[in-house]
Amino acid sequence: MNKIYNEKHRLQFHFSPEKKWMNDPNGMVFFKDEYHLFYQYHPFGTTWGPMHWGHAVSKDMIQWEHLPIALYPDEHGEIFSGSAVVDWNNTSGFFDDEPGLVAIYTSADNYPNSDRPRQRQCLAYSKDNGRTWRTYERNPVLSDVNITDYRDPKVFWHEETSKWIMMLATGQSISIYTSPNLKEWEFASEFGNNAGSHDGVWECPDLFKLPVDGDDTNQKWIMLVSIGDNPKFKEGSRTQYFVGQFDGTTFLNDNPDEQVLWLDFGRDNYAGVSWSDIPAQDGRRIYIGWMSNWRYANQVPTEEWRSAMTLPRELSLTSSKEGNRIVQKIISEIDSIRNHTEVTQELTIESDSPVTFNLTSPLMEVNVKFDNKDSNSFGLIFENSKNESIMIQYDTASEKLMVDRTKAGVNSFSESFAALQETDLKMEDGKINLQIFMDTSSIEVLANGGKAVCTSLLFPKHLYERIIIFSNKGTTRVAPLKLTELNSVWGK
Ligand code: FRU
Repeated sequence: MNKIYNEKHRLQFHFSPEKKWMNDPNGMVFFKDEYHLFYQYHPFGTTWGPMHWGHAVSKDMIQWEHLPIALYPDEHGEIFSGSAVVDWNNTSGFFDDEPGLVAIYTSADNYPNSDRPRQRQCLAYSKDNGRTWRTYERNPVLSDVNITDYRDPKVFWHEETSKWIMMLATGQSISIYTSPNLKEWEFASEFGNNAGSHDGVWECPDLFKLPVDGDDTNQKWIMLVSIGDNPKFKEGSRTQYFVGQFDGTTFLNDNPDEQVLWLDFGRDNYAGVSWSDIPAQDGRRIYIGWMSNWRYANQVPTEEWRSAMTLPRELSLTSSKEGNRIVQKIISEIDSIRNHTEVTQELTIESDSPVTFNLTSPLMEVNVKFDNKDSNSFGLIFENSKNESIMIQYDTASEKLMVDRTKAGVNSFSESFAALQETDLKMEDGKINLQIFMDTSSIEVLANGGKAVCTSLLFPKHLYERIIIFSNKGTTRVAPLKLTELNSVWGK
């Protein structure tokens, strides 16, 4: 048994650092049969502090092996968020016979003799599959004297123009730069000053192509933008996205500027971006986010470590009357931790006659399909012997799906934590489908095949022991319920 992964609230099938503070996922790249995950890391404390890049590798993005810290603060400052790519054609000149990895990140310090923050983009490269890194002797490669918020470079190779593209968060916009060699960058365009949500500072962009409804002849570009915390809004930090077109220099939004599309209706999915260099034969666009929120990340009640990542998700794009929307699916590799599954009878749930099932494990996947007859609302509750519970409820009149964690457990560490999280969601043929992943201190709810997703932390004093299926003011039919025990990935 892995002792350090046994603490109270320690996530059992999500990535978290062995100890101390973590925030954003960084530099995710696939190379030589390994998925790399770097992350914002403070090795000397359980709150945010001088940033390093922690590092882990995996064969399947489910089981992780921790590796030593990859990047340490240096003469250019702390190591903020960024990305990593495989320089297949040695455009950078860093490599000899074999291609290697290049990390592009923000160095954060202050202007000389001042306390004004300075953020500049730097490079490091690795010739040994990410095990050791050398910083580029001519760092920084991109700096701007006028912008304070100038960070989080996400770089990818753009086939059509044979150039590297960098997405950079620049205050309330995303600036796009291009380069032939990762070392020299030219400004191309700026997007977003008048589009989407400006509730907080723009951070951690990403840009990638996805086929609409799986049709490779109809591709759209997706831009992800994380929105920092702003005390004026109850949600804290969250992630929006845009759907549009990109020609190698400029991003054009397909939707009206004022429209805001949120990636997740839960409070705890931030700063997420996608993996680079997943082979074309695989073809998936895989995303992982930081499962926390700047509003209370530094206060959550864990002692040895702070924060975990979401489960990795495959992103796709589906057309609908409202437009093209992101759909999320937990990667199929999750199958390796599925254990015993119990399938119930078909159920008919009458008002005031809820049905209870005892959980055989605190680590569960629940698949449930509600076929509404005439009820006002229906859903399910996870509950423990301390009367703590989390409720997932669909309201048929308002057509809203809600995840209520107000009674889910410890929440006194932040006023913003006890929250109702909700989204608009239409029934499909009178049905609502939920896939739920319950870990010791998180829940991920994917509704109607991942069209709506809620990622939420919760800190029950006691693990949840049962689920209760309910229907209010009317009857709901429930297709056989699938309750699957999940294994810990940390050797428990
Ligand atoms: C997002 C962020 C990034 C920054 C990093 C610092 O959560 O604020 O913009 O690079 O965290 O740790």
